[in-house]
Amino acid sequence: MSYHEERIDKIARQLQIDEKLIEDSITLARLMRDRAYVPYSHFPVGAVLAGDNGQLYGGCNVENSSFGLTNCAERTALFRAVAEGCKSFQLLVLTTVRKEAVTPCGACRQVLTEFAKELPVLYVNDDGERVWMDLTVLFPQAFALLDSNEKKEKSD
Ligand code: THU
Repeated sequence: MSYHEERIDKIARQLQIDEKLIEDSITLARLMRDRAYVPYSHFPVGAVLAGDNGQLYGGCNVENSSFGLTNCAERTALFRAVAEGCKSFQLLVLTTVRKEAVTPCGACRQVLTEFAKELPVLYVNDDGERVWMDLTVLFPQAFALLDSNEKKEKSD
């Protein structure tokens, strides 16, 4: 088994996330998707970060006439969570209008890894099908200026 296969296998076996938290996150992610501002791509994305505190932080993509200023759903959710006082996370749930799983873009992977190096990521489609991923697999050997202990000291 490759490193990545082993890691995914481990997630599937060891993940002990409460099913109700997962279902509530999926419901909120769909609501977030409905709120997306996507006049250019017509590709709405809903994202929910579940904090270690049990709170859910939702985000949607917000596009702009100057396309490069678009903010993805994942970063909207992350920035909202931090602004509301949460910096540690147990789960990211994503949904779009696509049946096949969508993964966070490169910029979002870098931003997410700042706060949750080993974040489990769940993609869910409108048939309720779930695809589990993991940030360590999606974004291995991430760039970081501080190690996790230093980050904790600086953020407390
Ligand atoms: N988008 C997200 O919000 N999250 C992703 O993971 C991928 C891309 C948005 C950006 C843009 O508004 C639209 O999807 C199409 O790229």
